[in-house]
Amino acid sequence: MQVLRKAFNQQLDPQVSDFVNCIEADQALIAVDIQGSIAHATMLAAVGLLTEAQGAKIVSGLEAIQAEAEAGKFVLNPAFEDVHMNVEKRLEALIGEDALRLHTARSRNDQVALDMRLYVLSQISAVKALIKHVQAALNACAVKNEDVVMPGYTHLQRAQPVLFAHAMHAFIAMLDRDYERFEDAAKRTAVSPLGAGAQAGTALPINPVFSAAQLGLPATFINSIDAVSDRDFVAEFLFAASLASVHLSQLAETLIIWASQEFAFISLGDNVTTASSLMPQKKNPDPIELVRGKTGAVFGELINILTTLKGLPLGYNRDLQETKPPAIKVAADLCSALRVVAIVLANLTVNEANMQAAAGDPDMITTDLVEYLVLKGVPFRQAHEQISALANHAKQSGQKLNKLTLEKLKEYGEQFEPDVYDLFNPQVSVKGKSSPGSTGQALVHAEAKRLGSL
Ligand code: ARG
Repeated sequence: MQVLRKAFNQQLDPQVSDFVNCIEADQALIAVDIQGSIAHATMLAAVGLLTEAQGAKIVSGLEAIQAEAEAGKFVLNPAFEDVHMNVEKRLEALIGEDALRLHTARSRNDQVALDMRLYVLSQISAVKALIKHVQAALNACAVKNEDVVMPGYTHLQRAQPVLFAHAMHAFIAMLDRDYERFEDAAKRTAVSPLGAGAQAGTALPINPVFSAAQLGLPATFINSIDAVSDRDFVAEFLFAASLASVHLSQLAETLIIWASQEFAFISLGDNVTTASSLMPQKKNPDPIELVRGKTGAVFGELINILTTLKGLPLGYNRDLQETKPPAIKVAADLCSALRVVAIVLANLTVNEANMQAAAGDPDMITTDLVEYLVLKGVPFRQAHEQISALANHAKQSGQKLNKLTLEKLKEYGEQFEPDVYDLFNPQVSVKGKSSPGSTGQALVHAEAKRLGSL
């Protein structure tokens, strides 16, 4: 049985009906749709558009539908097009004709806009909690390996020794920005569109501030046409998710490289690696490869929604229905990626000896040698050139920098004294760093402590 068709002389073609319904996506919106309707009914009763008794009956009917949904007993009927009409029809079956008053002063246009806002807000909360969870896992890794030194890279070339913990903290810093972006997006999402109606508002004496307050939303819309057509919050959510996915992908890529036999800096747990169907020795990092691999689909959904929005004439257009699946898919994928990353981090072992050995490469100490000369008054550029020439000499003569005699070192910097050899210990190098935010050991310890106390 199709609904809302008294003005029509024909049923909607079944194939067209299949094409326009959004039952699949709306599964994810049942709870928020009911929550929105309860707030709306409560407001209608508060302003006298429903009697107290009618309001109470509608609310308890909606609560009953919510209970049915939680028990898996509320099955959406595609013939009713969407979750809104399904709930209304079920309410009518449960409480009778009072259900016909629920949609007073409301359109599915402001209703679906509200549903999407409540849905995105709930997903932002979930994502924020999972970001904190991943950050805690990163810091746990850092603390467990607090004084392990490794090569820091630029251009994937050995650059300067850093603490492994400092590298873990770099990812925490990225995720901090993601957290803030989601939090900021939530502010613009937490605006109630209820009361916009189809697009012009209503002549009925409603109270949009009241229904917003019922939902814990601090703001209501400014313009009714914009309220029903605004999906900026979905785009913002997808952008924040895209950038968070970039960071997870970079983390995944970094771990994949470190776990390769060429680096052998870390080992991934057997519970987070998969086997090869052919090569018995393989333990592959498939889970984090998929964290990296699913990122493309997240970007795709961002472009999807931006493209959907760009061609729309002012007002509600049914195209907006297509903004639901991207939000639902990205929320689910991002949450699973965050969960998987936390599990991988909790099951990661640092191969300390390999990291330290690589960190002991004396070539990475050349910057420290330059700073040594700078501290003795040599102009930076001149010191840089002297040490470049020194490094070139070591390379040409096939010697390690730290094996050169003091006499030889003095040829390239007369200020060098025997204490220069201490610098070739990477632990000394990281201990010596004192600038804010650097890999200085004391600073990294303090940061780990600060993060652990959050
Ligand atoms: N299912 C629709 C959506 O998701 C609800 C709004 C329908 N409004 C309309 N004017 N046909 O956007």
